[in-house]
Amino acid sequence: MAVNKPLFTLMLTALVGVFSCDYKPRNQGHSVYVKHCQSCHLENGEGLGALIPPVANADYVTERSDELACLITHGISGNITVNGVAYEGEMPGNRLLTDVELTNLIHYILVDLNQQENPFVINDIKAQLANCDSK
Ligand code: HEC
Repeated sequence: MAVNKPLFTLMLTALVGVFSCDYKPRNQGHSVYVKHCQSCHLENGEGLGALIPPVANADYVTERSDELACLITHGISGNITVNGVAYEGEMPGNRLLTDVELTNLIHYILVDLNQQENPFVINDIKAQLANCDSK
C-alpha cells in the first residue's frame, strides 16, 4: 500500500499539535500568569520588596481566594497587609482575560503557587464576577 507522505506528515503534525496543547488548567493558568502578572509579581510570585506583594505563599491569597476574580479584574489599591507586611500600592484591573483564562489563572495561583485545593469551577468564577463590590 502506498503511503501518502505529505498527508501522513500533516496528520502527524496535527496529532503532535493536539497533544502539546495547553489543555491542563495549570498550564494555561501559568501562561496567563507569565503574560499578565509576572512583570510585577515576578516569575515565582515572590513579589518585589516593599513595592509589590507576593502572590505565592501569601496569606492574603489563601484567606480571600473567593475574591481573587474580582481583585484581578478590577484591580486593588490602598493599604493591604500580606504576610504581615504592609503595602500601599495600586494594581490596575485586567479586563482582557476571558472567564476560562481567569478560572485557569486562579487555579494556577491557588494550586501551584499556594499549595491549596482549588474549589472553583468556571461557574463559581462567573458568579463571583457578577457580585464584585460597587466597581
Ligand atoms: C502593574 C503591576 C501589577 C500587575 C501587572 C499585576 N499586579 Fe497584582 N498587585 C500589584 C500591586 C502594586 C499590588 C498591591 C496593591 C495595594 O497595595 O493595594 C497587587 C496586589 C495583588 C494581590 C493581592 C495581594 C497579594 O499579593 O496577595 C493579588 C492576589 C494580585 N495582585 C494578583 C495579580 C495577578 C493574578 C495579576 C495578573 C493578572 C496581577 N496581580 C498583575 C501590582 C500588579
